[in-house]
Amino acid sequence: MEKIKVKICQGTTCFVMGGEVIKSIHDTLVEKYADKIEIVPVRCLEVCHDADSFSQAPYVYVNDEVVSAATVDKVISVIESKLKNE
Ligand code: FES
Repeated sequence: MEKIKVKICQGTTCFVMGGEVIKSIHDTLVEKYADKIEIVPVRCLEVCHDADSFSQAPYVYVNDEVVSAATVDKVISVIESKLKNE
């Protein structure tokens, strides 16, 4: 099975809006899904550039799906949904 690609934004906006969340997403995902996902740190996913989207940071991509206002639970929910569908 191909691993799910999880792109965790580490750009300035996402860091400011949820630096600790991003770190905990990374740590939790590595622990829970090491054999099922590939974590790709990225600088900016280019979805944070207006006032509305700024307030929805931090962002994480799970394959091609954008998770806004990302939390550990939201990202895990999207990953588990994709795992069920494979
Ligand atoms: S800094 Fe995260 S999407 Fe731009």
